[in-house]
This record gives sequence, C-alpha cells and structure tokens, in this order.
Amino acid sequence: MIIQPEFNLDKVWENTWESLSKGIATQGHPFKTPVFISFRKNYPIGRVVVLRDLDNDKQFWFYTDSRSEKVKYLERMPVGNFVFYDSASMVQIRIMAKISIHKEDEVAKQLWEAIPDNQRADYGGDFAPGVTLQGPEEQTHDGKMGYYFCALCCSPFEMEVLQLRPGEGHLKVRYEKSTTGWTQQWIAP
Ligand SMILES: Cc1cc2nc3c(=O)[nH]c(=O)nc-3n(C[C@H](O)[C@H](O)[C@H](O)COP(=O)(O)O)c2cc1C
Repeated sequence: MIIQPEFNLDKVWENTWESLSKGIATQGHPFKTPVFISFRKNYPIGRVVVLRDLDNDKQFWFYTDSRSEKVKYLERMPVGNFVFYDSASMVQIRIMAKISIHKEDEVAKQLWEAIPDNQRADYGGDFAPGVTLQGPEEQTHDGKMGYYFCALCCSPFEMEVLQLRPGEGHLKVRYEKSTTGWTQQWIAP
C-alpha cells in the first residue's frame, strides 16, 4: 500500500512519486491517463490526457493542439487539476499544478521532432478541435502538421493522496508547496 498508518509522511511522499513515475512510464497503467481539469470561462471542465513524461523536477508533460479550447483558457488561467485513480492499489491522487504552455518555441520544436511520423496526425488536423464538421471525412491532415503542436508542462503545487482501505479506515495525506518547500499533513479522508 502507498499509505499505511505507521508510515511517516516522507515515506508516503516517496511512495507516491515512485508510483506515479512507474505508472506514467507503463503503457496501459491508469496513472498514464489521468483526468485533467481546467477552466472554461468560469466553470471547470475535465478530459482524459496521456502523460508523456514525469521529469526530474516532478513536472508532468502532455501534448495537445494549440488551437484547442483548453489552451485558450489556460493562457488566461494557467492552473489545472489532475485526478488519478488506480483501482488495483485503490489509490487516488489529486494534483494541482501551474501550467506552462510551449507552442512555437524551441521546447515544442524538439519534442515534435521526437514524435514518430505515424503519430503526428494526432496533433493538428486542418480543422481546429471543436469546429463543426459536415462529417468525419471532412477532417484532413494536409496542412501544416506540427504547427499546432503544443506541449503543456505542469508543475505541482498541491497533492492529496487517498488510500482506500475498505473496512479498515481510509487514509489521506496532503502536501502543499510553500516558499520554503513542501508541507505535509494527515487529513481526514
Ligand atoms: C485515452 C485518452 C487519451 C487522450 N489524450 C489526450 C492528450 O494527451 N491530449 C489531448 O489534448 N487530448 C487527449 N484526449 C482527448 C481529450 O480527452 C479531449 O477530448 C480533447 O483534448 C479536447 O478537449 P478540450 O475540448 O477540453 O480542449 C484523450 C482522450 C482519451 C480518451
């Protein structure tokens, strides 16, 4: 289990990041495809994304189309919430993160170059995401593939970990980033 009553919170922290790191590196693991919630106008909206990397600075990376609505609103409100759940270990992880948008910059260019040709069509059809189509065949990929490629770098500033233990009492901890580092506490589940 990621959390046990006798664990100290440093151990839970290490267990959590290790689980996230392994999960994100494993095709098909639920931690690779969390729900990402951001703002659309004044209300929240979530969607599933594929995490491409968890880097050494504990930043999550995922890719999208720069014309998508989420990018437009993230430019105004650059925060998002990830929700992960692994039913095998019965662990939910909720992470608040600041979002940096990389489009048409050196970072985006380098990441784009690493994407295999057969996956490039996933980023940038000729019609922007959300545009009404007469039918599915109307979407084509003849234009500037790569031009709309966008990488989102997500830096956590709050994390809650919930370990379900049916019949034994669930366990929950919260970590918050402050100017001096991360604080940690047990909270009621
Ligand atoms: C398993 C799965 C993985 C997905 N991965 C991504 C992704 O990495 N990036 C992305 O922009 N959309 C991804 N999508 C599509 C989004 O869920 C969403 O439909 C799309 O990004 C449009 O969202 P928006 O209207 O909020 O911009 C994925 C969907 C599924 C079902």
